[in-house]
Amino acid sequence: MIRTTALAVLLAACFSAFASEEAKSGVDLAKAKQIAEGVCVACHGADGNSPVATNPNLAGQIPEYLNKQLSNFKSVNGKPPVRENAIMGGMAAGLSDEDMKSLAAYFSQQKLKHASAKDEKLVAEGQKIWRKGDFEKGVPACAGCHGATGAGLPAQYPQLSGQYAEYTEDQLKKFRSGERANDPEKMMRTIAAKLSDQQMKAVAEYAAGLR
Ligand code: HEC
Ligand code: HEC
Repeated sequence: MIRTTALAVLLAACFSAFASEEAKSGVDLAKAKQIAEGVCVACHGADGNSPVATNPNLAGQIPEYLNKQLSNFKSVNGKPPVRENAIMGGMAAGLSDEDMKSLAAYFSQQKLKHASAKDEKLVAEGQKIWRKGDFEKGVPACAGCHGATGAGLPAQYPQLSGQYAEYTEDQLKKFRSGERANDPEKMMRTIAAKLSDQQMKAVAEYAAGLR
């Protein structure tokens, strides 16, 4: 009896510490869940596992990265957003800074159902680029920034493992054309400019299968 009471007190202390930690950092997970289930669900799933390969999985993504993307989609003071996308621009327009931070925290805590690689030949080619880059073209290894297993590196470098190949390939093309230009110091635009269509397809396929 005494032990259960002590445990209850301890647990209560833990929860209130957790709740105040949340409040301090401006994160409201309950509100984020509500927005996710009411709005984001249509395209990303309520738990950040997207039902469609053209919409990115958000589950398990690095929270700082998610927060940055949401801010980048939003137009501020009538200026064009840093990351231009008509759909996500509309979504971000209605979100406050606190909503974005909360949604980023919420989705980062969901469990990713990994996409998978299908084409073995592509995977082999993609693995080389991932691990070693392409020396002749001056392409660095993706692993250098996104990690050997594609888990990413907080806070700047997103997780790419288990992401839909279609989405990853599309983003590489958008970095190459400059349609996506929100990467710090042009890191991704510089790299994508040197990749062929075939190399993009291969590395995207490899990343989808990474664990
Ligand atoms: C109508 C479909 C749709 C809805 C609803 C939607 N999204 Fe998106 N989202 C997309 C698409 C499409 C992209 C990819 C945009 C691109 O190509 O750059 C995207 C991209 C994102 C990204 C960037 C991910 C990355 O890896 O860079 C984040 C973060 C995101 N959405 C969060 C949200 C949140 C949070 C909500 C709910 C408030 C939401 N989205 C609602 C379609 C949608
Ligand atoms: C020098 C570091 C660096 C290297 C090397 C690198 N990346 Fe990136 N990558 C980044 C950064 C930083 C971002 C986040 C950009 C942002 O903030 O929007 C990023 C973002 C991405 C994204 C967008 C993810 C999303 O969810 O939208 C893709 C796809 C990507 N990288 C693929 C690759 C591939 C493939 C390689 C190897 C050919 C590679 N990267 C090598 C730094 C790097």
